[in-house]
This record gives sequence, structure tokens and C-alpha cells, in this order.
Amino acid sequence: MNTGARITVIGGGSSYTPELVDGILNHYEEMPVEQITLVDISDGAEKMRIVAELSRRMIEQRGRKITLDTTLDRRAALKDRDFVCNQFRVGGLKARARDESIPMRYGAIGQETVGAGGFAKALRTIPVVLEIARDLEELGSKAWLLNFTNPASMVTQALLNHSNIRAIGLCNVPINMQMAIAQAFGVQVDEVGMDFFGLNHLSFARHIYIKGRDVTREVLHATTDAHQTLANIPAKEWGDDLLQAIQMLPNSYLRYYWFGDETYRQQTADLDAGKGTRAIRVMAIEAELFKTYQNPELKEKPPELQKRGGAYYSEVAVSVMSAIYANRPREMVVNIRNGHALPELAIDAAVEVSALIDGRGARPLYSGLMPNAVRGLIQQVKAFEDLTVEAAVTGDRDIALAALINNPLVPSTDVAAKILRDILRENSGYLPQFELEG
Ligand code: G6P
Repeated sequence: MNTGARITVIGGGSSYTPELVDGILNHYEEMPVEQITLVDISDGAEKMRIVAELSRRMIEQRGRKITLDTTLDRRAALKDRDFVCNQFRVGGLKARARDESIPMRYGAIGQETVGAGGFAKALRTIPVVLEIARDLEELGSKAWLLNFTNPASMVTQALLNHSNIRAIGLCNVPINMQMAIAQAFGVQVDEVGMDFFGLNHLSFARHIYIKGRDVTREVLHATTDAHQTLANIPAKEWGDDLLQAIQMLPNSYLRYYWFGDETYRQQTADLDAGKGTRAIRVMAIEAELFKTYQNPELKEKPPELQKRGGAYYSEVAVSVMSAIYANRPREMVVNIRNGHALPELAIDAAVEVSALIDGRGARPLYSGLMPNAVRGLIQQVKAFEDLTVEAAVTGDRDIALAALINNPLVPSTDVAAKILRDILRENSGYLPQFELEG
């Protein structure tokens, strides 16, 4: 007889895994867990061993009976699961460093999830995610696939439209926004409600509530502490004029779209100062983290993990899992099939919206026309995403170029062609769908 949920984590050797295990332990009363299986590729085996040992010490410290095992056999690890969490990175941080630096050669922003960097990551990642989906289909699995792997919007859309499995895309930005508001207003996180809409890393809190009262204007005019940013995003204030003009609280990633010149200048200055791109800095943070993880006295998630941008992603993952597992309805912001939530986007588009999560999965709660102030940007980026998913699935270079031309962070068609050439050239081995074209 099962004594709790069975969870598989793909990319289990990630330095983020202790964050997830911490979340599982914090929510154990709501959702007992019987087994956690970490899966990685052989290159990640040593990191996975270190992370697994720390995770077992954390479980023991909290007095829980959870079996935590590791394997390199991904397909075997997908059998008899309630949840599968994707948190892997195809090509590792080295590939991320290339994604961030190729666009910068041609004057474009270098970021791993938006712009041309997100495009490159999607081309590498979508085929692997669809292989996992095929395995789950062949196994007749009833598991929910919770996807954190970036670019979450395009990966989720590929899963929804090119597989039959049950998938939900997750991100930690909305919960960080909610937490920042709760802290600034001195209330509990679950007393803050948000009507949320858009695409992953391109989304907005249109209305914000505290204990059911609409406080949107107060939040927009509040101290900037309420306007959260993450460890990995430049902390530039939105400014009263911008917030007054749009009347919504933007996801921190809008800084790349709206403060593009300044962000690019900062990125270039970092490169000139020898600081490298974010990937290079994350490599250094990771090296420190893995040293810390190996201390046998460490039995909890170390505070240094907050240097990564993924803070509190475990809260999102475990809240979604427990709402589904216990069929206990909960409102959360997730990436799901649009349906009729945002009528100006396609029915089968993946969108990031407030949703009701329960044993049946996630259904959008938010619906309505998008405000004109942001509708065009969202539609344009969705066109880019549609084309990118198609290019990732088919390996068609024309569609890939059309995708890049549609990205607002790619300055010209000439630059798009050069970036595409470099991405295809420098990702050899990771893009078999293109390489087969000859
Ligand atoms: C944020 C984003 C995640 C992203 C992370 C990167 O949390 O929401 O999608 O993966 O930042 O953080 P890193 O520390 O890897 O730069």
C-alpha cells in the first residue's frame, strides 16, 4: 500500500534539489511523500550523489520516512509516479553561457529565457522534453508532469500540443511577487490574491487583493520593496510614470523588454569588467554551493541558495502537487492551455494565468481581454513562441529564422540570421533535428 506520493525529479543533480526537498518536508503534513527518485545523465552523476546525500540528511533531520534514491535510467524512474518534476538543463551551464553571449556579439540582450537566448534553449530542450513525454505515454503513466525547465512557456506549449500527458508549467516569479507584497504590507502570503495573466516571464498582476480588498493602486504606489525583483535580474525601479501608465504590476522579466538599452549596456559593462554573463556567475555560485553541500554536518537547505534566481520554486511545486494529490482546491499562478481565458490568443497557446488547482489539474480562473498597453507585446512574443516550438519540433531553418525575426529583443533581420547561424553552429550535438537536414 502506498504511504504517500511518489515523485521523480529529472535533473536531480541540480543545485536546486535541496530547495525542492525542503519544500516537500515543509508541506509533509499536507502531502505525505513515500519516495523521491532523482534522475540525471552520467555527466551529472557526481553532483547528484552529493545532492542526494544532503537530501537524505535533511529528511533524517526532520524525522520523515521518505526513501530517496538516484538513477541514471530515466525511463525506469518514470514508472508508477504521481509526479514528475522537470528541472534539467540540456547542455548544462556551458550551453547557457553560449545562449547568453551569442546575441551580445550582435548588440542584442543575452538572457537565458527571453530573447534569442531563450530561443536557443527551446531548440535544445523541447526534443528532450518530448522524449520524456513519449516515455510517459508508452508507460501509460497517469503522472502529472510539472515543468520548471526553461523556457517554461514554450516547453509547456510543446508538451500540451505534441503529447497526451498531463503537464503544468511552473515558475517562481508570481509567488515571489505575492511574497514581496505580503511583506511590504505586513500580511500573510495567502492573504494576498492576484488576477494574473500573460505568458511566462511576460506576465502581469492586473488586480491585487489583500484579504479580498482590491489594493492594486496602493501596491503600485507603495515602496519599491513591494515590486519584487529576483537575484538574477537587474534591480531597476519601474518608476511611477510607467506604473501609472500601465496600471498593473509587471513580472520582473519585463525589465528586459522595457529597459532594453540600459540592460544591454549593463551586460556589456559586466563583460568588459571580466564578470562574464549570468551563467559564468552561476558557475561560481554552484561551485561554492557544492562545497557547502558536502559538509556532513549540513542538514538543511543552506542560506547561500538564495543567491540563485529560483528562490521559493519549491513552494510553487509542492503547493501544486499537494492541491492535486489531496484534491484540495487552491488558487495559484501556473502555465496551462489558454482555452478561452485570453480570447486574443489561440485556444491551444500556453499562458501564465491565475488558476484553480485540484485533483482534476489546473483550470484558468482569470479571463478577459488584455489591456491595450501590453496586448501587442504579448501577441508578438506568442507568435515568436509558436514559431520557435514549431522549429524545435521540425528542425526547419526557415521557421527558426521567422521565429527570431519576431522576437522584440532581436534588433534586425540581419542580426537574426547571424544569431541563428551561430546558434546552430555552436550547439552541434544538441540539435539533431536540424543536423539531420544536412
Ligand atoms: C528566476 C526565473 C527562473 C530562472 C531563474 C534563474 O527564478 O523565474 O525561471 O531559472 O531565475 O536563476 P539563476 O540563478 O540560474 O540565474
